[in-house]
Amino acid sequence: MTDLVVRRLLIDLEAPFDRHWCGGDAFLSAWFNALSMSFPVGEQFFIDSVRNGHKALPPDRHAALKDEVQGFVGQEATHRRIHALFNGHLERQGFVNDWGPKALERMKLLEGFDVRHPVAITAANEHFTAIFADWLLAHPEVFGSAEPRLRTMWLWHAAEESEHKSTALDVYRALGGDEGWRRTWFRRVTIIFLTDTVIQTVKNLRRDGTLWRWSTWRSAARHLLARDGLLRESFKPWRAYFREGFHPNDLHSDLAERWLADNANAYRPVN
Ligand SMILES: [Fe+2]
Ligand SMILES: [Fe+2]
Repeated sequence: MTDLVVRRLLIDLEAPFDRHWCGGDAFLSAWFNALSMSFPVGEQFFIDSVRNGHKALPPDRHAALKDEVQGFVGQEATHRRIHALFNGHLERQGFVNDWGPKALERMKLLEGFDVRHPVAITAANEHFTAIFADWLLAHPEVFGSAEPRLRTMWLWHAAEESEHKSTALDVYRALGGDEGWRRTWFRRVTIIFLTDTVIQTVKNLRRDGTLWRWSTWRSAARHLLARDGLLRESFKPWRAYFREGFHPNDLHSDLAERWLADNANAYRPVN
């Protein structure tokens, strides 16, 4: 495990941005906006779950994972802060975040559950996020002519997601988490995450008035279904999670490391 560095992003998020900020593409903008809307609530849930799981560990295992958990919490806390600023602009543009409040309601159902369940849910989400992050880092052209500060924000987040992809699963294993439950939660999270993404993206497009434009659907097909699209390229790493004893580091990628090295002037390490 490499040390998880918390980084302060040196970009200005005060200035407003275009509605179709992602290279003028209505579909991509609506889709990324939907994901961003889920982050403040989702990432707080990941932080709480991993923290509670870590607290429940016996002293030796607790100590072994202390630095990793601290780095994870610091990175996710920074992500949610930055995305809350981004989401503030979306709100002023008239978009409505239904995903966050719905996810919050759903999280209440987990109150009183064994601490391993939220950690398994977090590990499942983190695998999803890491797959998406590596796809983005491999296809930065998705951002087209997007403003450099926004492109930097998304790729920085992607790089850190890829960097800390194993923390939740490491905590789950240290807690003696069951392999059957790990897979069950991944199956459930897959369905819930995809459904929520589609619903919020469609709502964003409807509010934008671009849902029924041919160019919107052409972009969706191009970025999701094409040979180098997200769904096709993600299937294998998605399936890998069901393997007995799977660990995120089994899927090696140096894209995050490379992006962070090439863009060192875009951030400042905090710790
Ligand atoms: Fe994050
Ligand atoms: Fe994460």
